[in-house]
Amino acid sequence: MAEYNNLKIEKDGATAVLSIARPNALNALNSETIGELNSALSEIEADDSVKVLIVTGGPDKKDNPYKSFVAGADIKEMYDFTAPEARAFGMRAAEPFFKLMNMRQVTIAAVNGFALGGGCEIAMACDIRLASDNAIFGQPEVGLGIIPGFGGTQRLARLVGMGRAKEMIFTASNIDAEEAYRIGLVNHVYPKEELMAEAKKLAEKIERNASYAVSVAKAAINNGYDMDIKNAVEMEANLFGVVNDTHDKKEGMGAFIEGRKEKNFTDF
Ligand code: CAA
Repeated sequence: MAEYNNLKIEKDGATAVLSIARPNALNALNSETIGELNSALSEIEADDSVKVLIVTGGPDKKDNPYKSFVAGADIKEMYDFTAPEARAFGMRAAEPFFKLMNMRQVTIAAVNGFALGGGCEIAMACDIRLASDNAIFGQPEVGLGIIPGFGGTQRLARLVGMGRAKEMIFTASNIDAEEAYRIGLVNHVYPKEELMAEAKKLAEKIERNASYAVSVAKAAINNGYDMDIKNAVEMEANLFGVVNDTHDKKEGMGAFIEGRKEKNFTDF
């Protein structure tokens, strides 16, 4: 993996942990970090040894690992943006955010503190969100005279429904981890010290299954979400056909028929 100024990437078995690391800015996303994220995600996607990616926030400048996931897009950088520059900034972030959403590896956001604006948005671009019990979510943009620009108006409504998304965005009010769990923005909430261990446990559970099948299931869910049900089910049948022609299918079903616990999945 390349070296990055604002990202730290660690591999632990088949799990990669990508930490956004701008300790002086509570991991706010500036242009450089967004560019690095785009390159790092391409590197990770090309790595057959990585099956699950955990995205988290690095410690703040006082070395507190539970202060912030990502405190938004970088307000100091955005302050001087012209309209075309702001549009370009939004489009620049769309690329890595779509990679998180569509890459063949499963992406888990381990939200370890503030997830505001672009921070909430990057978490929403991941497949699954886990939160520490001190995490705070919000889309504060209208209080800054702007609107969410990294997919927030779209992904929040898709995740929690229009009414709740509109309330959060129009009031610019933050919600805590329990409320985020209640409205379906996060899958689980854990005591902060246990968040990373729980994220890795979830990753391992996913990694035990056939990775290629998991990636095809991810594509089926993503692609079908915005389709009408008839075409979506037909698309699923096509992908169901594809996974039936794999080594892993013979291996998984063979293990069942032979009463064998060990499975040697190799496709990815
Ligand atoms: N951009 C740039 N710098 C930021 C930042 C951000 N989004 N969030 C925090 N920082 C910086 C602070 O300026 C501060 O820097 P200095 O030490 O140099 O002054 C440092 O990080 C620590 O932050 P605070 O001193 O403010 O920490 P706190 O504990 O008092 O408050 C906080 C924490 C409530 C998260 C507060 O920092 C905050 O409100 N941050 C901004 C959150 C926000 O509005 N995010 C949305 C941005 S807009 C967006 O994301 C648009 C989009 O969709 C594209």
